Amino acid sequence: MDEMAVPASGRTRIFSGVKPTGHLTLGNYLGAVRGWVEEDQHRADALFCVVDLHALTVEHDPARVRRLTRQAATLLLASGLDPEVCTVFVQSRVDEHARLSYLMECTASDGEMRRMIQYKEKTAREQARGGSVRLSLLTYPALMAADILAYGAHEVPVGEDQAQHVELTRDLAIRFNQRYGATFVVPKATLPKVAARVMDLQEPTSKMGKSHDRTAGIVYLLDEPEVVRKKVMRAVTDGGSEVVYDRAERPGLANLLDVLAACTGGDPERLAGAYDSYGALKKDVAEAVVETLRPVRERHAALAAEPAYVDEVLGRGAERARGMARPRVDAAYRAMGLLA
Ligand code: TYM
Repeated sequence: MDEMAVPASGRTRIFSGVKPTGHLTLGNYLGAVRGWVEEDQHRADALFCVVDLHALTVEHDPARVRRLTRQAATLLLASGLDPEVCTVFVQSRVDEHARLSYLMECTASDGEMRRMIQYKEKTAREQARGGSVRLSLLTYPALMAADILAYGAHEVPVGEDQAQHVELTRDLAIRFNQRYGATFVVPKATLPKVAARVMDLQEPTSKMGKSHDRTAGIVYLLDEPEVVRKKVMRAVTDGGSEVVYDRAERPGLANLLDVLAACTGGDPERLAGAYDSYGALKKDVAEAVVETLRPVRERHAALAAEPAYVDEVLGRGAERARGMARPRVDAAYRAMGLLA
């Protein structure tokens, strides 16, 4: 591997991102953001990005994307990402992502893109509605690979649903290095121990996703405590009355136990033994979620009143990110035969 394989500081480098296609959910928080805040930003040279280019892969309202991008960035700061210790920025402000994405499209095959589960699911959903699918939805993983590889990230902390995209990123990095010479670090996904896949409270066999239409089973980070309580108390549970942890047979219950474990630091199986009714469990889950989200909501309200501060953080972040990505992306251009 060449000298760019390890960042200049010699520290582990981490990259992750969130897509502004909807309001951030409890799934985003427990599956990803909380780990970035509590561990990742402190143990590594870390970059966290609101990946707004990815939001254009589906039908969107430009003003809403702009609003959600700002809101997501504000929420990342409200959750505790500290711009003094990590880099927080918006993807479209750093041209290297789009520049490198094209090289990734020239490295990936059509077949491996079509095999991506998210592409298959979203395409099926869109076609059922009679809609068409944007070409960028197919090439999305090339852009995601570019996001990660531009920075030489070693680790990519994500929820379970993104693991396949990170695997593909690994394959592309290895292929590129073999064909054109050592250029990229081969990254790996890191998943949280609990809550790597928070499920929809109304449909516990589907992921809690921010862009879904039906919102009764989705807890948003900015939901009022009363709304959170209502959503949790109405969560679908499974037949039977005994509280046991069984993800395959009792997905609704297991999801609540996972959420409780993630919020309180407990173990879902052990927690199951502490309850003899669904009602008592739901009450505790509701309170645990409300308390987990309370500081985030409060800090979000304070930061939303200071847009100039958020702008300044994002401006600084983009500049720093550009400086980190540019040399590696230029090297990739040259390695591939371009007169860059
Ligand atoms: P996105 O915006 O869908 O989700 C952001 C992060 O939240 C995690 N997540 C979940 N974790 C547990 N349970 C859930 N229900 C849940 N829903 C979402 C996701 O796994 C993710 O870690 N393609 C990415 C964004 C992206 C990216 C990147 C991530 C673009 N480029 C480079 C990492 C590195 C996405 O759509 O995430």
